Amino acid sequence: MTAQLNPRGDVAVLVPAAGAGVRLGPGAPKALRPLAGEPLLVHAVRRIAAAPSVHTVVVAAPAADVEPVRAMLAPVAPVIVVPGGADRQASVAAALAAVPAGPEIVLVHDAARALTPPALIESVAAAVRSGNDAVIPVLPVVDTIKEVGTGELVLGTVDRSALRAVQTPQGFRRTVLAAAHAATSDPLTDDAGLVEKQGVPVVCVPGSEYALKVTRPFDLALAEYLLSARQAG
Ligand code: C5P
Repeated sequence: MTAQLNPRGDVAVLVPAAGAGVRLGPGAPKALRPLAGEPLLVHAVRRIAAAPSVHTVVVAAPAADVEPVRAMLAPVAPVIVVPGGADRQASVAAALAAVPAGPEIVLVHDAARALTPPALIESVAAAVRSGNDAVIPVLPVVDTIKEVGTGELVLGTVDRSALRAVQTPQGFRRTVLAAAHAATSDPLTDDAGLVEKQGVPVVCVPGSEYALKVTRPFDLALAEYLLSARQAG
């Protein structure tokens, strides 16, 4: 069985989808929660598979759900499904280890960003292809940000113009991501953080509002609205 999408593509997309999703409230693992009748992971994989550069998709599923996830995704796209790890970084490492020879660009993309447009996947991949070792999609920060200490006492106001909210997919030259994972095991919340620790420059490209991360019940409602309003393909 082949798990290739576009055999001429140069991109592998790793999808860490093994988290519990505690902040969404009780229920199934987050990637398997329904959004407009289909699991978040199905929405995410469908959009990844629609990006023409994508050669291979590797999903890290909750260890107990590998077979059902495989069966669920089979009609959506040819994907490789592996058991995830104890934290996000371990899940990404497991997915990276399953990438076949070929793709030299690796994108790491949270299943929770289920409505990410294929165009964003392409733009991150293109920025790596053009010579950047590490690329992240970002949005400007719109709220005023305060640093707060003990007792919720404000310590100061951060200069918002220098801040960015970071999304996924995060894109890397494959060798750079593999070296960063091999070099550190401190759990971080994103992969760019790992390569930063190796001194690799990380470049920002414009993100997308549709790449919102479904984390809390409000985000699920917003994503349902975007789909029903046909604003998110
Ligand atoms: O918990 P958080 O929302 O930061 O998780 C980000 C992504 O990492 C989610 O897509 C989640 O499924 C994934 N994850 C994972 N393995 C874990 C924990 C989280 O693949 N052990």
